[in-house]
Amino acid sequence: MQNILNSPFITEMCEITSNMYRLGWNERNGGNISLLLDEAELAPYLDTDAVLRRIPTGFDAPSLEGRFFLVTGTGKYFRRVAADPENTLGIVRLADGGRTAELLWGYSDGGKFTSEFPAHMMSHMARLAVDPENRVVMHCHPTNTLAMNYIHPLDDRSFTRTLWQMCTECIVVFPEGVGVLPWMVCGNNEIGAATAEKMKLYRTVVWGMHGIYCAGKSMEETFGLVETVEKAAQIFILTAGKPRINTIRDCELRALAEAFGVEYRRDFLD
Ligand code: 13P
Ligand code: ZN
Repeated sequence: MQNILNSPFITEMCEITSNMYRLGWNERNGGNISLLLDEAELAPYLDTDAVLRRIPTGFDAPSLEGRFFLVTGTGKYFRRVAADPENTLGIVRLADGGRTAELLWGYSDGGKFTSEFPAHMMSHMARLAVDPENRVVMHCHPTNTLAMNYIHPLDDRSFTRTLWQMCTECIVVFPEGVGVLPWMVCGNNEIGAATAEKMKLYRTVVWGMHGIYCAGKSMEETFGLVETVEKAAQIFILTAGKPRINTIRDCELRALAEAFGVEYRRDFLD
C-alpha cells in the first residue's frame, strides 16, 4: 500500500482548505467539503474492505449506496487540515441505502463527518442527477457574500442579476445563476433537502446570512466558483451606498453570454 498522505486527493484537499482559510472563507471550524472518489483511486492507498467504524447518517441516500467520499470532520479547523489530515478528514463509504457511513480512514480522534453531511450528500444526489461528472460539494462563509446578504434582497433572480452586474466574467462562470435560501437552522435534513432542491437548478446556493454552497466536477472548478461569486460580492460591498453612475446593462450581459455561447437564465434579465 502507498502512503495515503501522498495521494492526489489528500494533497489537493490540504492545499484547497489552506487557501480557503487564508482567504477568510473558513474561520474556526466554519465550512466543510465532500469529494466523491472512485474505488480505483482509493485502491493503491486503502483496503476498502477494512471498515474502522460504522456511523449512522440519519438520512436516506439510495443513489449513493456504495459510493466513497473524502469529507471534512465536524468541528475541525480548516487552518489545521494540512498539518493534521488524518484527524481533520475522513473517508467513508455509504451503506444501507445511505443510512450508514462506513469509516475507512481518518477522524482519528474518534470524530465524525461534518454536521452538514445531509446537505452535502443530498446535494451530491441532486447534482449527479443533472451532471454525472459532479464530484465536489464545498461550503464556506465568504465575508463579502455574507455581508451582501444583509443589504440585498434574498431571492434567486435579483441576487443573481446583481452579481452578474458586478464583474464581467460572472455570467460566463455561472450562467445558470445562483439559488438563494432564507436563513434556516443548519446541520439538519431540512436545510439539506432545501439545498438539494436548489441544486437541481444551480451549482451555487447561498444560505441566507450563513454562507455559500458550491458544487462542481473538480475541487479547482468548485473553488473557482466560490471565488467568482465572492469577488462579485466584494465589488458590491465596495460600491454599496455610493451613487452608481455606471453598470453593465442587461443588453450587454446578454451579448456577453451569447459571445461566450453559454446557456444562461434569460428570465433573470429585464
Ligand atoms: P462542521 O464543523 O460540522 O463542518 O460545521 C461547520 C459549518 O460551517 C456549519 O454550517
Ligand atoms: Zn456553515
